Amino acid sequence: MPGTHGLTLTAHIRNTQSLHPEARGELSALLTQVGVAGKMISSKVNMAGLLGVLGSTGKINVQGEIVQKLDEMAEDVMQDIVGGSGLVCAMLSEERKDILEIETGGRYVIAYDPLDGSSNIDANVSIGTIFSIFRKLSPGTEVTRADTMQKGCEQVAAGYILYGSSTVFVYTAGEGVHGFTLDPSVGEYILSHPDIRLDGKCKCFSINQCNAPYWDAWVHDWIARVMERNDADKRRISGRHIGSLVADFHRNLIYGGVFAYPTDARSPKGKLRLMYEASPLAFIAEQAGGYASDGRISILDLEPEELHHRTGLIIGNRPEVELAEDCVGRASI
Ligand code: AHG
Ligand code: MN
Ligand code: MN
Repeated sequence: MPGTHGLTLTAHIRNTQSLHPEARGELSALLTQVGVAGKMISSKVNMAGLLGVLGSTGKINVQGEIVQKLDEMAEDVMQDIVGGSGLVCAMLSEERKDILEIETGGRYVIAYDPLDGSSNIDANVSIGTIFSIFRKLSPGTEVTRADTMQKGCEQVAAGYILYGSSTVFVYTAGEGVHGFTLDPSVGEYILSHPDIRLDGKCKCFSINQCNAPYWDAWVHDWIARVMERNDADKRRISGRHIGSLVADFHRNLIYGGVFAYPTDARSPKGKLRLMYEASPLAFIAEQAGGYASDGRISILDLEPEELHHRTGLIIGNRPEVELAEDCVGRASI
């Protein structure tokens, strides 16, 4: 039981592990190391304007997007701290073209977006690190496609560290969703949001409205139907869109809300990445009582076709996401 000084992330992870007597403690150690990487990234993000690490590197990454200096810094921290932990055999990063295999081995595979929302960095908008953890399936030391290309429903843990007004670590290991706030004076994450739920009212609606000319008809239909419900409900839902998925998702998780980045004429396969963004957040949403879909099926049931697989994403309160699926279904009749 937490005393007056709270429950640390490390203690919480170990308590969850004790529910599984067969566990060897390696997943707990890995989650703790991800938390350490998050502290380091957080400290650099907080000091960015002073350290001269704002702005872009002038490089373009495998996604065709501008690499910010902090993107590179976060990638280096993840490689050093998580890659050096001896707990992962492979690292899949939004910022790396290929899989990074780790010779020292480990029983887990990690996929991550080292810094999500990085186009917002220079304006001090909230950004974050998103991660997804799988068990290595194949025996032996060789890393196979079956190890790295797993569906979201095979995740053993997922989470994010949000660098916002405070730094928060939110994770699930399949036993609900829990949030911890970093106390920078002692360098520890302390439980601040136990058992977060996403099964109340949907209050926030997040979409980049400027993509409207490129949307399929069903998106317009869906928004109209959400607005109809909203009207009947005396404008319960408000538009809230940051343009930083991890921050938009976190706000919606706390207040109730739905975020959408559907496929469109400019991004026919979707903009967001399945392995680094959609899948981990989908696991968290479902563990909290919400849902995530590409418009047809659950994000967690999508088979990754390639490392940087992109997907449409509708994520948040289940009724609103299911309404989107309904609109897609009607449009295809
Ligand atoms: P990243 O910074 O990791 O490249 O991700 C950016 C993503 C996501 O955070 C955000 O919701 C979306 O891109 C914004 O895209 P648009 O500018 O097209 O709305
Ligand atoms: Mn991202
Ligand atoms: Mn990124």
